[in-house]
Amino acid sequence: MTMAMTETDTLLTVSDLTLYRGSAKILDHVNLSLARGETLALVGESGAGKSTIAMALMQLLDGARIEGRADLAGAGDLFSLSSRQMVRLRGKRLSMIFQDAGAALNPAYTVGRQLITTLRRNLGLTRPEAYRRAVDLFAQVGINDAEARLSAFPHQLSGGMQQRVMVAIALACNPDLLLADEPTSALDVTIQAQIIRLILSLTRERGASCIFVLHDLALASQSCDRIVVLYAGQVVESGPVAEVLNNHRHPYTRQLKSCVVEIGRADLVAPEGTVPPHDQMPKGCRFSTRCPRALARCSDDAPPPMPANPDRGGPHDHVFACWNPE
Ligand SMILES: Nc1ncnc2c1ncn2[C@@H]1O[C@H](COP(=O)(O)OP(=O)(O)OP(=O)(O)O)[C@@H](O)[C@H]1O
Ligand code: SF4
Ligand SMILES: [Mg+2]
Repeated sequence: MTMAMTETDTLLTVSDLTLYRGSAKILDHVNLSLARGETLALVGESGAGKSTIAMALMQLLDGARIEGRADLAGAGDLFSLSSRQMVRLRGKRLSMIFQDAGAALNPAYTVGRQLITTLRRNLGLTRPEAYRRAVDLFAQVGINDAEARLSAFPHQLSGGMQQRVMVAIALACNPDLLLADEPTSALDVTIQAQIIRLILSLTRERGASCIFVLHDLALASQSCDRIVVLYAGQVVESGPVAEVLNNHRHPYTRQLKSCVVEIGRADLVAPEGTVPPHDQMPKGCRFSTRCPRALARCSDDAPPPMPANPDRGGPHDHVFACWNPE
């Protein structure tokens, strides 16, 4: 469970990440931090910017202008690294499981070749060593008949199997930070839940940290240490998961909670109303067009992050951004 985080425990600190595509501000001063071994759930409705945060950390975005920092312990600011330095970190220090495995795997190569190449390139293994490791990894991610499956091309595998292959590739080199985007709804819900649980248990076993994009608040509360609630590219509330979900302060967090339709199968349905288009985004609180508690100042004046427990304080504690909190 969550402990008080000290600077030496901190694995990743994202400070004031602002990301533009053309004139659209897709992320606005996003702050988050993660301790070693912690799992952080990133939640918010479609288009909130969850995948954009993960892709920005991996330096995998084209056509985006980034401001702010993302400090990874021992590596410095990820946004200042050259692409060559980033290639050296990917796989070994941080890796990503994409929302759509079918699109992320290379259709031209067998899945075994993709996994073995990753192992050889990053860990310097010989071919037979990498092959043995690949068979072990496939078994760990629940792929039966691993030896035969290694020679399959991605299109010969089901969506669930493709996701498992991607989990194996992402964990192959024991990264200390895993970015996992919830599998797309193209997959059957039961399979999605299996994959999510698999990723959570494997990262936990390895003592790795994980930023997990999740739509299931019940699962987030059972399996994650911290939560970041994102609305239209802004962090509206964050902190230890039980604290935020039990004692939320932000009206949007309430709306998300009330949209959990059924415990145990708790997909989020979007709260009422829609997110304004980027060219009509209020310059203050972006939620002000939908907020039942909005005050006169809200649409012009952006609320800064405020501590929910000022006596405890600290950047890793429960914070929210709202002028009229619940
Ligand atoms: N390649 C792109 N070009 C232009 N805009 C983009 C691109 N990718 C994402 N966006 C915009 O950035 C915003 C954030 O998108 P993002 O994909 O990060 O959302 P998300 O929270 O991951 O949503 P979902 O739950 O649907 O996966 C959206 O407004 C989206 O329209
Ligand atoms: S700052 Fe204002 S508009 Fe934004 S969530 Fe709080 S009360 Fe609502
Ligand atoms: Mg996404």
